[in-house]
Amino acid sequence: MKFFIDTANIDEIKEANALGVLAGVTTNPSLVAKEGVSFHDRLREITAEVSGSVSAEVISEDAAGMIAEGKELAAIAPNITVKVPMTLEGLKAVKAFSDLNIKTNVTLIFNANQALLAARAGATYVSPFLGRLDDIGQNGMDLVATIAEIFDRHDIKTEIIAASIRHPMHVTEAALNGAHIATVPFKVLAQLVKHPLTDQGIEKFLADWNKQK
Ligand code: E4P
Repeated sequence: MKFFIDTANIDEIKEANALGVLAGVTTNPSLVAKEGVSFHDRLREITAEVSGSVSAEVISEDAAGMIAEGKELAAIAPNITVKVPMTLEGLKAVKAFSDLNIKTNVTLIFNANQALLAARAGATYVSPFLGRLDDIGQNGMDLVATIAEIFDRHDIKTEIIAASIRHPMHVTEAALNGAHIATVPFKVLAQLVKHPLTDQGIEKFLADWNKQK
């Protein structure tokens, strides 16, 4: 399983990229709005920093609008992936992008049929939102496992991005359940590195080292 970072904050992206584990970035309109910057300018900054897939979401609700927006986004850099919501209009747009060889990430996936349809329309990625399912008392991880099984059984090449990740256990379980990618907030990425025994071990080694005469 690969790691994407789920943020539009350029400092977080640079910090995560320096760790050498970053395969891509996902953004969404809420994350971009928090930054208070021009969307296109920020995408230029991100794509200059990260060579992997950078998901940029369209906000139009009709296919024609999504296609026009997505073409503009894709023109910003070759590694832009157009993020499209899972709707009837979204599927039409995904098919059009697929015909144009523009990569897509179908977002707001909450059941397996949505993922299968997105894949068949030509999506490069599908993003099941684990945390938001957990929030309403449904098991988000079961959805990842089901999609992975269906894609495997039918030899579907669309990659599964485990999204709406809230804590480190989501990451481990997403990897075990067949997600190709986990897109994680910076806070969770930092949590993945930490273990109290690692910290204690470092402290003890340093203390012993400093006792030398
Ligand atoms: C993924 O592409 C989304 O941007 C993100 O994971 C949504 O996470 P949230 O449910 O924490 O807002």
